[in-house]
Amino acid sequence: MKIAVINFSGNVGKTTLARHLLVPRIDGAELVVVESLNADEGQGQALRGRQFGELQEYLQTVHSAVVDIGASNVEDLLGLMQRYRGSHEDFDGFVVPTVPALKQQQDTIATLVALARLGVPPSKVRLVFNMLEDGVDVQPTFFLVLAFLQQQPVAIANPACRLGANEIYARIRCSEADLATLARDDTNYKSLIVQAPDTATKLDLAHKLATRRLACGVVPELDACFAALALEAVPA
Ligand SMILES: Nc1ncnc2c1ncn2[C@@H]1O[C@H](COP(=O)(O)OP(=O)(O)O)[C@@H](O)[C@H]1O
Ligand SMILES: [Mg+2]
Repeated sequence: MKIAVINFSGNVGKTTLARHLLVPRIDGAELVVVESLNADEGQGQALRGRQFGELQEYLQTVHSAVVDIGASNVEDLLGLMQRYRGSHEDFDGFVVPTVPALKQQQDTIATLVALARLGVPPSKVRLVFNMLEDGVDVQPTFFLVLAFLQQQPVAIANPACRLGANEIYARIRCSEADLATLARDDTNYKSLIVQAPDTATKLDLAHKLATRRLACGVVPELDACFAALALEAVPA
């Protein structure tokens, strides 16, 4: 399965969702990063939008991939998809993360319009409602995007495709850590903290304990969001 994570907006969670929602749950998926601005950030293979020809060729050689398309490349890339007619068909699905801020909702609408213009069928385009505060509903928060989709149903918007705002992502942003591994960590931090010789060591261990607790909480949420995306149901 080949999935593109796309939005004209930065800071909607494209990289976060690619790394922590999609890659770990798609069998054998490689992470491909199309990002010219901060190419050395994060893992994966860095490609520029204008190297689209190479990206297409590369995609033919792998079975599964998640392509994280940096905001600075989206327009480039969509233009190239237009030029290489039909190339969007290399992707089985387009995951579009969106966040509550109105500017980002507007950019999300623009992204959905651009995908529709390319000829991507609505069934292949899935929204993920990201960074919801606790107890907040999708419908009122994302009224702008949802009202647009009522008028023009160019994507699938399942309110169950939601992720809460969680500080775990900031904590592990600069590490290679994967959340399932962090959640499985069975170190007895409490006893290590008791035995630790100094405060700095205790604090370091306490930080790891807190990270594990957050990971344990967020993995089931990511599982539920992934299941609700129903990517396996995307028509080939
Ligand atoms: N659900 C979330 N809760 C809290 N912070 C998040 C969440 N999703 C993303 N972030 C944070 O928001 C920032 C932007 O996310 P990122 O994935 O880099 O966005 P993009 O790739 O779209 O620019 C990062 O600091 C990331 O850790
Ligand atoms: Mg990014």
